Amino acid sequence: MVALRSVALAGVLFSVSAVPAFAQGQATVGQVTVYCSILEEQCREGASMFERATGIKVSMVRKSTGEVYAQVKAEASNPRGDIWWGGPGEPHLQAADEGLLDEYKSPRLAELHDWAQRHAEQSKFRTAGIYLGALGIGYNTELLKKKGMPEPKCWADLLDTKFRDEIQIADPSSSGTAYLFLATTVQRLGEDKGFDYLKALHKNINQYTKSGIAPVKATALGETTVGIAFMHDMLTQILQGAPIKTLAPCEGTGYETGSVSIIKGGKNPEAARKFLDFTLSPEAQNINAKLKINSIPSNRNAELSPDAPKFSEIKLIDYDTPRWGTPAERSRLLKKFDTEVKALPR
Ligand code: G6P
Repeated sequence: MVALRSVALAGVLFSVSAVPAFAQGQATVGQVTVYCSILEEQCREGASMFERATGIKVSMVRKSTGEVYAQVKAEASNPRGDIWWGGPGEPHLQAADEGLLDEYKSPRLAELHDWAQRHAEQSKFRTAGIYLGALGIGYNTELLKKKGMPEPKCWADLLDTKFRDEIQIADPSSSGTAYLFLATTVQRLGEDKGFDYLKALHKNINQYTKSGIAPVKATALGETTVGIAFMHDMLTQILQGAPIKTLAPCEGTGYETGSVSIIKGGKNPEAARKFLDFTLSPEAQNINAKLKINSIPSNRNAELSPDAPKFSEIKLIDYDTPRWGTPAERSRLLKKFDTEVKALPR
């Protein structure tokens, strides 16, 4: 309980399901604290599945990827989390490089697609790939029509003055999604032109939100006309009936390697390894299909939703996740964004 309270102070704590039927009356065989950077509903579902299957009690905190990175770093001398589940790979890679994550070769790695195995190898097995997601633009079709705005097709179109105050994206320091956009822009245009683009776009941004999913929900609710976010998250809203269209910008776009890592020095290393194995399993990755979440799973045997954005039809840039996940690049770009873009008047 003490541990639970201390975690609760740090973020949104959910107490996961009651003890599963088969484990009732039995002593809890362990516990694990999960910092979760995917969607709250995925976190909850995964935590209760894991509890049912293992009897290990899960304490879960949902936070955005950059926030978890900062928390893991701040807690380095006394880690309170055991495992970090989800979010784009760059903050995980930075933490790995900074010695904040444990090396672990899951027996499940062999079941993964090559891109996910490569991701694990590149991190010296201190993180592993669980899904892919392409960055894109989404817009509220009703608002766009009502306001007489042109349909954006390219990143460049978002600089049109007609979009003044009409675009929402998260803050790259807290959100892995927004950091991916920052790095994609710099990789696509080069650093100088990339920052020129971000400064020009800044004039059209109505809000930098904390989480990457917030602009998606705001687009669905008509609180912003345009959102920059993952196409699969926009798609989930579309499947629920929201008047959204999502697209991959004409110049090409970056993509995330959603990741999972074990926090070094966590109090429950054995349970953390079991949880990591679980996140790589088809059963855990099929949560996506069940909840109509259409990121692309890393396990070859997991279900691929027929609705998932087709990577073969998206113009992708040769996005360099390891490069943008180095501590030097990520820290530098975030600082530069804060001082040269976010600080500008709008
Ligand atoms: C959602 C997406 C994931 C993504 C995550 C990042 O959960 O479905 O694909 O990794 O957001 O969240 P963040 O708040 O860090 O941008």
